Amino acid sequence: MRNSFLPYSLPFVGEEEIAEVVDSLRSGWVTTGPKVKHFEDAFAAYVGARHTIAVNSCTAALHTSLAALGIGPGDEVIVPTLTFCATANVVIHLGATPVIVDVDQDFYMSAEAVCRAITPRTRAIIPVHYAGQACSLREILVLAGSHGIPVVEDAAHAAGAEYEGRKIGTHGRAVCFSFYAIKNMTTGEGGMVTTNDDALAERIRLLSLHGMSRDAWKRYSEAGSWYYEVLEPGYKYNMTDIQASLGIHQLRRLDGFIERRQQIARMYDEAFSDLPEIVSPPRLPGRTHTYHLYPIRLRSGLLQLSRSEFIEELRRRHIGASVHFIPLHRHPFYRNRFGYKAEQFPVAEELYPELVSLPLYPKMSDKDAEDVIGAVREIVLNRRRITSRARVAQIEGGM
Ligand SMILES: Cc1ncc(COP(=O)(O)O)c(C=O)c1O
Repeated sequence: MRNSFLPYSLPFVGEEEIAEVVDSLRSGWVTTGPKVKHFEDAFAAYVGARHTIAVNSCTAALHTSLAALGIGPGDEVIVPTLTFCATANVVIHLGATPVIVDVDQDFYMSAEAVCRAITPRTRAIIPVHYAGQACSLREILVLAGSHGIPVVEDAAHAAGAEYEGRKIGTHGRAVCFSFYAIKNMTTGEGGMVTTNDDALAERIRLLSLHGMSRDAWKRYSEAGSWYYEVLEPGYKYNMTDIQASLGIHQLRRLDGFIERRQQIARMYDEAFSDLPEIVSPPRLPGRTHTYHLYPIRLRSGLLQLSRSEFIEELRRRHIGASVHFIPLHRHPFYRNRFGYKAEQFPVAEELYPELVSLPLYPKMSDKDAEDVIGAVREIVLNRRRITSRARVAQIEGGM
């Protein structure tokens, strides 16, 4: 058994990031400045988007995108139940109604499920690229297009992911990324909106900084002037140069990070392939999986322990694990406010008690991954339920 605790996730921050942050601190540009602009340009080039607006979280990115699309009271926004609360909370912040729909066995919200949820009040659809793999976006885009409904992608997990040969970042009307501590790349806290829509980009930029008619930082630079106008009551969502210092170097490392995540995922896929009790996350055609998460389905019916006991057994072996996610419809606020019932979400209800996210991040060594594999196999083999076929084999073997 390993001696030190292996957390389920950790960021990788290199010396270049540290030096760049120190440089920002020494330069005096500690808030939004030239490094944010540099990071936005680099991210735009990376995903191939015309516009990028750096903000201080993916939650802020989603909120401003929906606000810029004019979403407000009386409007409905379709979201999947298997996501982080931020995807739906931002809809509530705007006084609109999140319409929560079930996911499929592959973890994603299908176009069919979206279609059933569309009403004359639907004003946006937020598909989530759960775990770092794109959902079946094409079908959703076609459906949304036929109704004239904008798609705002929740790409919190999907920086660097590809779909139909293109980086996630330009398929939907607006795409929202997270650079939270343990995401595919990090700025500590941070986010980005990407879009090819000129007018929308302008409105998102305006709303992300108080609704002011020009960037605050330009007011104090040599090229700037002191004058600005508030055109709308916007938000205080700007990214700082300290955050962008991290982002510039994390973006350079992103493809390498993803490659390492994919290597570890392959080790897990192989190691668990002979265990019917463990179902590895699905890899869907036409897209790359960045493995922000490695959510297994634990077939606890085949085991003599529950999901919680499994996580506890991992912890006893000094290995962290987590669950992504408690479905939205189960949270008291959403259940009580909208009266959601478990029966409306049969697939998520089947998935949720089985989900366990195993440690997977670029900082992990092969030895760390082998420790995870060893612990999972040991728990499964020790606590395997004797199936009737195995029992028959035992009896036939004279045991
Ligand atoms: C699917 C999803 N959407 C949105 C968010 C919000 O991201 P942030 O923490 O950058 O606001 C998260 C964060 O974990 C997430 O997992």
